[in-house]
Amino acid sequence: MKFFIDTANLEEIKEASQMGLIDGVTTNPSLIAKEGVTDHDSHMKKICELVDGPISAEVVSTDFDGMMKEAKHLAALHKNIVIKLPMTMDGIKATKACTEAGIKTNVTLVFQPIQALLAAKAGATFVSPFVGRIDDIGRDGMQIIEEIRIIFDNYGFETQILTASIRHPHHVLRAALMGSDVATIPFKVIKQLIKHPLTDIGLENFLKDHENLKKK
Ligand code: E4P
Repeated sequence: MKFFIDTANLEEIKEASQMGLIDGVTTNPSLIAKEGVTDHDSHMKKICELVDGPISAEVVSTDFDGMMKEAKHLAALHKNIVIKLPMTMDGIKATKACTEAGIKTNVTLVFQPIQALLAAKAGATFVSPFVGRIDDIGRDGMQIIEEIRIIFDNYGFETQILTASIRHPHHVLRAALMGSDVATIPFKVIKQLIKHPLTDIGLENFLKDHENLKKK
């Protein structure tokens, strides 16, 4: 399973990519706003310099023409840019047009498996089901990953399932068990993936025993 980092923070991207585990980056207008980015294009270019893999940049237009204009502009910034388009009628139309123009896409704001099927039929490179936001309304978000996997395998779609809106390590574990192609993970959760109290206790004891042996 590929790991993308879900942030627009350059320091987080730098630190996480130094571990050698980051295969790509996802951003969205909220993550960009959180960083107070005023020059979106140059910020995206900086991200592309830090990670050599798919970098999702989201359009903010809601109409087909506006989406296509933004998609062409963003795709020209760097070869690794993937255009994030919303799961709307115009978004799906733009996904199809981008695919035909050789532009990679990530259909975002997906909350049910049939939406993912539509994205795949439009030729999307990635589809982003938001599992955490489904959990937030009292449902099991991960269930749609399982269902999308079955649908894509039934018909041999090559669209990659990108599990998004991840809140904790258990989402990552379940995404891996269900065969999600990618998990996009906030930096906080990436750090949590490494931690286990028994690892800390075990390491502390090994070092203590090593020190005691030296004293003998
Ligand atoms: C990434 O592609 C999504 O935009 C992101 O994972 C959404 O996460 P959130 O639900 O925590 O805002």
